Amino acid sequence: MDVSNGEFSELGSQLVLPLFGGVNKAPNNSLTGLGRSQRSLVKEAISSGSFDGKKGKRMTIWTPGCNIILVGMGDKESLGHNRARNTGARLISSMSKKKGLDVTVRFTSGWSGKRMIDFAEGMMLRDYEFLEHQESPEGYIADPWIVEFQASKRYQDTLSKGLQQAKSVVGGVHLSRDLGNEPANILYPMEYARRAQDWAKGKSNVKVEVYDWDMLQKLGMGGHINVGKGSERKPCMVLFTLNPDADKGLRKPCIVGKGITFDTGGISIKPSRGMWDMKYDMCGAATVFGLMEALHSTGHVGRVNGIACLAENMPGSGAYRPGDVFKTYSGKTVEVFSTDAEGRNVLSDGLWKAGEFDPEYIIDLATLTGAVVTALGNQISGMWSNDEDIAKRVKRAASRSGESVWRMPLNSQFRKYMTDSAFADIRNGSIGGRAGSSNTAASFLEFFVPHRNNDEDQGKIPWVHLDIAGTAWGPGSKARSEGANPLFQYGTSGIHVRTLFRLISGG
Ligand code: BES
Ligand code: MN
Ligand code: ZN
Repeated sequence: MDVSNGEFSELGSQLVLPLFGGVNKAPNNSLTGLGRSQRSLVKEAISSGSFDGKKGKRMTIWTPGCNIILVGMGDKESLGHNRARNTGARLISSMSKKKGLDVTVRFTSGWSGKRMIDFAEGMMLRDYEFLEHQESPEGYIADPWIVEFQASKRYQDTLSKGLQQAKSVVGGVHLSRDLGNEPANILYPMEYARRAQDWAKGKSNVKVEVYDWDMLQKLGMGGHINVGKGSERKPCMVLFTLNPDADKGLRKPCIVGKGITFDTGGISIKPSRGMWDMKYDMCGAATVFGLMEALHSTGHVGRVNGIACLAENMPGSGAYRPGDVFKTYSGKTVEVFSTDAEGRNVLSDGLWKAGEFDPEYIIDLATLTGAVVTALGNQISGMWSNDEDIAKRVKRAASRSGESVWRMPLNSQFRKYMTDSAFADIRNGSIGGRAGSSNTAASFLEFFVPHRNNDEDQGKIPWVHLDIAGTAWGPGSKARSEGANPLFQYGTSGIHVRTLFRLISGG
């Protein structure tokens, strides 16, 4: 989508008028550029009460030369960012490119600058398809939408800055969706690494480093090695640094993502039903990559580290097995309870590596447990944290972005469920079985969060774990049918790119 802004003058071949509840006449400026008969059609629709601006209402008035769409925004006073964003998303999903690619959206009385940007963001977010590997449908128009957002003069600055930023961030969200939607035969660990290196080319302020199979051995990253060794497609760790030379001596964020490019379960193999969804098991790593793109393209100047923990979890004669004991990068050992609890294994290396950057905080994202889907569904991510301050900040950024999180517990019982292995420092499965199994998974991760300066007498580095198993892709993943979340249609959501962008950029 090409976006621009301007005052009320030019008119595209489609005109969108988002209007508030109780509207009884066409607002000033809304009809600029329309002919007399076109104006009277709109006026008539509004004055007759056929269109009343109620939430969810939409009316299309086709006139020669301009397709006019009235969009009901509902009550003006209570318009929050969610309704603005979702309405923008639903609007674009209902529009047809056949009626003209150049669209004029007019924000007239009652609109604030912030809500305009939220509405535009919704339109941009939803304007996404993944048609990499199929022929385009009959009559498909590949050319982008060209949208001009119009408002009065005093909003032009807000609009041009806000739209550019939203467009850059949405670019990051869409990149993260692309990675998630790629099938596992195309996107395997070293292919993610190749794409990351490719992305870094020509960007002077980003560094991408890849720990390949040999390097993982050298470093003793047992989590990656064990999960990935059953596959011909070997595991790797990808390290992103944005602005490596900035903020010398300051503590900055480090974001870690689970990147299982396919999760069969390994020897503890999964049932075949629904296994196709396990190509999405790298969405944590996809969010890390998308976040880097969002930060880079908005010109973020601070240093940020990202770590993607990549492996394909396959059964085979070279695969790790239940009962195995291996040593992680931290030196701590893990008894394998289930080879299907692989995400936490790779993250143990990632979290430990994160500590080496002495970060302000560590946030990990992982499609970690099926149980979090049972607990919280598809619209809320589970959040665990060892630090009140960072937990609050993440919660606030998530909620402002329309990407809700819900705090879940860490406690000594869940810790004990994991750490009472007879044969190793910790087990990757809980003696509690399914009881609280998203919480026990989080406790396992907590075990690998380093202490400040690796000094046991100091507290642990502030850390947040986000379990995105329910939110990374929609219930509409197998079909193109509209899901509950209007911000995307099917496949992956690119969840928490915007949350983390907001958190890190302070926006
Ligand atoms: N990738 C899965 C979690 C998952 C399941 C995500 C369903 C999305 C939908 C993860 O690796 C896994 O298999 N977790 C197990 C853990 C268990 C073996 C302790 C689970 O949730 O059943
Ligand atoms: Mn698994
Ligand atoms: Zn998994």
